[in-house]
Amino acid sequence: MNTLNKLKSYMAGRRKLYPIALILSVTSSLLGILPYLFVWFIVRLLIGADGMVNQSNIMTYAWWAFGTAVGGVVLYFVALAFSHLVAFRVETNMRRYAMKKLVSLPLGFYDNNTSGKIRKVIDDNASITHSFLAHQMPDLAATLLLPVLSVVLIIVVDWRLGLACLVPVVSAMTIMGGMMMGKGRKFMAQYMTSLEEMNTEAVEYVRGIPVVKVFQQTVFSFKQFHGSIKKYHEMVSRYSKLWEKPMATYTMLIHGFAFVLIPVAILIMGNSAPNELIMLNLFFFILITPVFGQCIMRSMYLSQALGQAKEAVSRIEDLTDAASFKSEESSLRQENHDIEFKNVVFQYPGAKKNAIDGVSFRIPSGKTYALVGPSGGGKTTIARLIPRFWDIIQGEICIGGVNVKSFDKKELMKQISFVFQSTKLFKMSLLENIRYGASDASLEQVNKAVDLAQCREVIEKLPNGLNTKLGAEGTYLSGGEQQRIALARAILKNAPIVLLDEATAFADPENEHLIQQAMGSLTQGKTVLMIAHRLSSIRHVDQILVVKDGKIVEQGTHNQLVNQHGIYTNMWEEYQRSAKWTIGKEEQYV
Ligand SMILES: Nc1ncnc2c1ncn2[C@@H]1O[C@H](COP(=O)(O)OP(=O)(O)OP(=O)(O)O)[C@@H](O)[C@H]1O
Ligand SMILES: [Mg+2]
Repeated sequence: MNTLNKLKSYMAGRRKLYPIALILSVTSSLLGILPYLFVWFIVRLLIGADGMVNQSNIMTYAWWAFGTAVGGVVLYFVALAFSHLVAFRVETNMRRYAMKKLVSLPLGFYDNNTSGKIRKVIDDNASITHSFLAHQMPDLAATLLLPVLSVVLIIVVDWRLGLACLVPVVSAMTIMGGMMMGKGRKFMAQYMTSLEEMNTEAVEYVRGIPVVKVFQQTVFSFKQFHGSIKKYHEMVSRYSKLWEKPMATYTMLIHGFAFVLIPVAILIMGNSAPNELIMLNLFFFILITPVFGQCIMRSMYLSQALGQAKEAVSRIEDLTDAASFKSEESSLRQENHDIEFKNVVFQYPGAKKNAIDGVSFRIPSGKTYALVGPSGGGKTTIARLIPRFWDIIQGEICIGGVNVKSFDKKELMKQISFVFQSTKLFKMSLLENIRYGASDASLEQVNKAVDLAQCREVIEKLPNGLNTKLGAEGTYLSGGEQQRIALARAILKNAPIVLLDEATAFADPENEHLIQQAMGSLTQGKTVLMIAHRLSSIRHVDQILVVKDGKIVEQGTHNQLVNQHGIYTNMWEEYQRSAKWTIGKEEQYV
């Protein structure tokens, strides 16, 4: 079985324990049946079916009945202890595997998979496999014993009554098996998808509540969440309806077995064996048949569980496998830090249009290039392709003449600092945040980066200086302050390539001035690609690339482009007008 083989690979050192757990579980269920048989022997003795009543034999059987009953329970506990040891190991290893995969995934993966979804997929599916391995598999193994046991009982006790009791049992099993194999299995995948959707929507909904409140949206924001609940509800109702008739028939058969047993008993009475013995056998079968019923019921949940476990394993693996990318060998050494795009084409997964459509340019080491252009043109995408947020479809992106795909991931990241508008600071101390890209930096170096990033006054304001904890119950920083801390982090990392996206978006002039200064320190002597919406900040860069609809439509220095009477000229005029308007407006207030 494929699912089991996959699960085995997560068992690591505890793999050998699992067969032991299964064997113990099977043995325990065998022991669970034996007391019935011993009681039957005792009653046979009591009614004199085997000749003289023998007191000591009765006692022996009684002890055996007691011993096997207790032994069955004890073995079951031991089996469960073993299966739990294995299941916990598998659960831990699955989470570890997922975590390891997650950190090695291309960063773009996180654009398309919300953290709520990732967490749900890993948590839910790891715990499904736990209950499958710890509880359900040992029970399944025990259930497989059922056919063997029934044959033994039929031969030992009375084959006619045995066959009679098997008729309802086998019919009920056939009905259930048919359901589980056919429609039931298909349903399982749908069920898990819609459960996952509902959970993801719930997390997203809660996360979005602040925005919802600000915009006074109540019903509409709930729509998606509500939609997913409705979908789940519809599917579960459909499934329940599907089961209505088979389940009713099954229940009738399994509980109505006496209607088959009693007529058969009456038919065979007076034929061969004494009537008392037939009555006794009938009584025995009436006692034992419900045990079969229970077994079928259990195995029904089990095939469902097996389906669930299979889905669970593949969901965790799909989540991470789909997006994982490979690095080729990394022995190549580059000489410089040129960045070169050679006819690059890129499309977001699931998108219809190319986001980047045949882009070529080369930034020589130590130069600063800027990307400008209308919103949605592809600037951010171009910048993100360099550290392999995504892999391109066609063309080549090289650093120092070496394809980015040939670099070891760590090596690639070491070469690049990026500062994006939505800065992520962690819930740890400021010092740890700044040291994030360069953990072995000395305090002196940190302080220097802090000064260069114009963060000194931010830090002096805080109760514990650099050791102040951020977020959660810690301190909060403004957007502009966070941006400067992120710049300090990038300065400390001191990577030869710097990517800056929309880093000047903070409007207040004081903060913008500080950020400009910090950026100046960061980019000095580096190969820089910056995206800026304020054209004033890129006037002095070496080259400006105008990006529109995924293509570079103009390229040149500021002065060259202004005189080209193209898109950039329009943008520049527009920018100057708005700058003048701002100054004019400010003057009114003075
Ligand atoms: N994660 C994503 N998945 C799918 N499509 C995306 C994704 N991110 C961006 N896009 C699409 O790719 C195109 C280029 O987007 P990009 O963010 O690069 O534009 P931009 O030039 O940076 O715009 P802006 O100036 O507004 O920041 C847009 O059409 C956008 O809808
Ligand atoms: Mg952008």
